[in-house]
Amino acid sequence: MKVAIGADHAGFALKEELRRDLTAAGHDVRDLGTDSPTSVDYPDFALAVARAVQSGEAERGILICGTGIGMAMTANRVPGVRAASCSECYSARMARAHNDANVLAMGSRVVGSGVAADLVRLFLETPFEGGRHEERVRKIESESSRAR
Ligand code: RB5
Repeated sequence: MKVAIGADHAGFALKEELRRDLTAAGHDVRDLGTDSPTSVDYPDFALAVARAVQSGEAERGILICGTGIGMAMTANRVPGVRAASCSECYSARMARAHNDANVLAMGSRVVGSGVAADLVRLFLETPFEGGRHEERVRKIESESSRAR
């Protein structure tokens, strides 16, 4: 799968680990930074990953900051992006199955690398259930564009 990944300084080390694992698992990973633990602004990286997903350049996005919160807030401003901040497996699975989330945000200060790897695996493997959830997901986009 084509996956875009990004992090701020707080998520840098975990991003490096996850990128290596994803590449080893055969995914086509586009690393959009940051490239060091030097302090940066998370919205810059959230927007880069969200735009890669919006354009179709990536099928899914993964974002890591300290909490996952700022990354998800920012990514969700990009039309067509549905970002879910998850710290346990049930939410990561349901974000795909019911919400058709296309970006997973995580907090490196919230989850350890083992949980993060499980969240990523579930997020990439779980299909959208469609059916009754289809119209609800469609409403996210149509209602939010009306509110603008
Ligand atoms: C950086 O200290 C921290 O604020 C950032 O990584 C993130 O948690 C924001 O949501």
